[in-house]
Amino acid sequence: MPSHKKRKIYIFDTTLRDGEQCPGASLTPDEKLEIAKQLERLNVDIIEAGFPAASRGEIEAIQKISKAVTTPTICALSRMVPRDIDLAREALKFAKKKRLHVFLATSKIHREYKLKKNKSEILKLAVQNIKYGKRFFRDVEFSPEDAARTERLFLVEAVRAGIDAGATTVNIPDTVGYSMPVEFGDLIAYLIKKIPALGKTVNFSVHCHNDLGLAVANSLAAIQNGANQVECTVNGIGERAGNASMEEIVMAIDTRRDLMSAYTDINLKEITKSSRLVSHLTGLAVQPNKAIVGRNAFAHESGIHQDGIIKMRQTYEIIDPKRIGLSGSEMVMGKHSGRHAFRQRLQKLGIKLTPAQLDRAFERFKQLSDQKKYVFDQDLEAIVEDEISRIPQTWQLEYLKITSETDSKPEATIRLKRQGKISEASSDGDGPVDACYRAIEKITGLKAKLVHYAIQSVTSGKDALGEVSIKVAIEGHEVSGRGTSTDVIEASVKAYLFALNKVCAHIEKKSGSPI
Ligand code: KIV
Ligand code: ZN
Repeated sequence: MPSHKKRKIYIFDTTLRDGEQCPGASLTPDEKLEIAKQLERLNVDIIEAGFPAASRGEIEAIQKISKAVTTPTICALSRMVPRDIDLAREALKFAKKKRLHVFLATSKIHREYKLKKNKSEILKLAVQNIKYGKRFFRDVEFSPEDAARTERLFLVEAVRAGIDAGATTVNIPDTVGYSMPVEFGDLIAYLIKKIPALGKTVNFSVHCHNDLGLAVANSLAAIQNGANQVECTVNGIGERAGNASMEEIVMAIDTRRDLMSAYTDINLKEITKSSRLVSHLTGLAVQPNKAIVGRNAFAHESGIHQDGIIKMRQTYEIIDPKRIGLSGSEMVMGKHSGRHAFRQRLQKLGIKLTPAQLDRAFERFKQLSDQKKYVFDQDLEAIVEDEISRIPQTWQLEYLKITSETDSKPEATIRLKRQGKISEASSDGDGPVDACYRAIEKITGLKAKLVHYAIQSVTSGKDALGEVSIKVAIEGHEVSGRGTSTDVIEASVKAYLFALNKVCAHIEKKSGSPI
């Protein structure tokens, strides 16, 4: 593999052209403008803003972008047809820095079946149209479409003809994502050997599709073999399986600069924002485990990993999430989380517990994480609040069963434990909560009047934790109670027992003997 000094790799972003060709990703001109402005903040070198021959809306969008976005070069795609080139001229007329991108397929299958033209007809068309484009554009990019499947000798011929006609950038597309990294890298090295101007006086670009999941690997192999421009999209969106993902290429170059001997001018801190904006405006969700920008890319759930990250972030992270605009790594609190991570999360929430309280809270957390997939900060706060406001658990819930049918009153069976002794009672009621409260009354002998009942969800998702707050009048005392559970009936019972136990504690304190 040839060794290169640190070279600048130009980022040609085609989110607004090839990315928008992704099924269902259609954008309005204003949405395109919003993304283009973000791409400017991201500091991409070239924005391919659209394909003017597609529609008037496309021309309008490119014009809007050309007026408002001035740092990157604005590029428009065109077939090798003078009319397309004229539309590109119209679309780019306001651009401060502009590029015309013309393409024509060169592979045998495209020549014979799609274009029905022989090799010399293809060469003629390419030369004529590049020359036509050069009358209006200083900067012209030539793409021999399906280059990766084109016979090597003919590809060399086409590229030479394009450069002789005035192309300032040559782009080698792997249009159908067929290449393998070693093969694609070898093709790039071969072309440079045959045409040494590539990567020197003529920009040498690659454009890889992801049909075999190799778009990024192929782009990196091309860079290692001398390409100095990559065409890519935010989140890797694009035709079929998509294009090479901008953030993956940029972060691979940055993270493995020891190996890549290259750099980009991308403003890394804008990566996350760009990804979210594109996902939001195109409606294309980012898969959770997507490298760099997936929701889980910096999330750790395993207790062992969390412990490692807390001790030294690099044990399980090769990129500092802050570099790409995130606030930090995320510890997903769930059943795999350990004590260390639990304590650290509480510290972050500003919660201080005594060692005994911490032990109990951790036990509650473990119980909850068996019921819920993720335990959110609000869940932790709810657990801790229960711990801090701890009162003696005179009555403890052992068992709860509700039967409820249409046209008949619900029935509750409750088992409570007090000083090691279990008592059980059943009752019907006007609703399941009422039935439970009546059954508890039967067991405890304490009559309570419900003054207030409120329920709210303290976390999100189908497995959300419900919090029930009540106020009851018992034995002349008006007390509040609160209970949390993923089951709202259980939360209601816990709230009731909480209030009941408060009263018991109060009475015991006053009388000096248990009630
Ligand atoms: O995939 C492709 O070949 C293209 C060209 C227009 C560059 O998108
Ligand atoms: Zn493409």
